Amino acid sequence: MEYMMGDISRCLIEYFENDVRRINHAMKVASFARSIALEERVSEKELLIIEICGYLHDVGIKLAEEKYQSSSGKLQEELGPDIVKTLLNNLNIEDDILARICYIIGNHHSYNKIDGIDFQILVEADFIVNIYEDNVLKREVEEVNQRIFRTITGKSYLKHLYLSEVV
Ligand SMILES: [Fe+2]
Repeated sequence: MEYMMGDISRCLIEYFENDVRRINHAMKVASFARSIALEERVSEKELLIIEICGYLHDVGIKLAEEKYQSSSGKLQEELGPDIVKTLLNNLNIEDDILARICYIIGNHHSYNKIDGIDFQILVEADFIVNIYEDNVLKREVEEVNQRIFRTITGKSYLKHLYLSEVV
């Protein structure tokens, strides 16, 4: 499984080509997602799903922009799963794992659809990275903590990264 992540990150880098900002974003999300997943003691299967989703969750945005000149979250969700299936085609990923990856990527902006620890961790890792990249205000981070974050590890990361008072 560890070696497969090399293939996945290569897929990501080749897919986004010189879009360094998006490649960096996905590399960071995958790394935070893996760290949270390890701390939360998820199963091997869940770890695989979480890590692949971390790398590939935003692939829909490229096609959305090329085809529709839009980066809307809904469009990204619609376009993402088919791209992921193509990218993962040669990697012999089991059908149920691929289906779960496509479900999470196809709904990753729809927080009311979170239905498992794998999906939850991907969303938390994406927020942790986006808060920094988008300069989100502390007041909004506190709201996200209340409204979206559920895992002890994710909440702890959020606190240490963005919410602790420096004295
Ligand atoms: Fe993202």
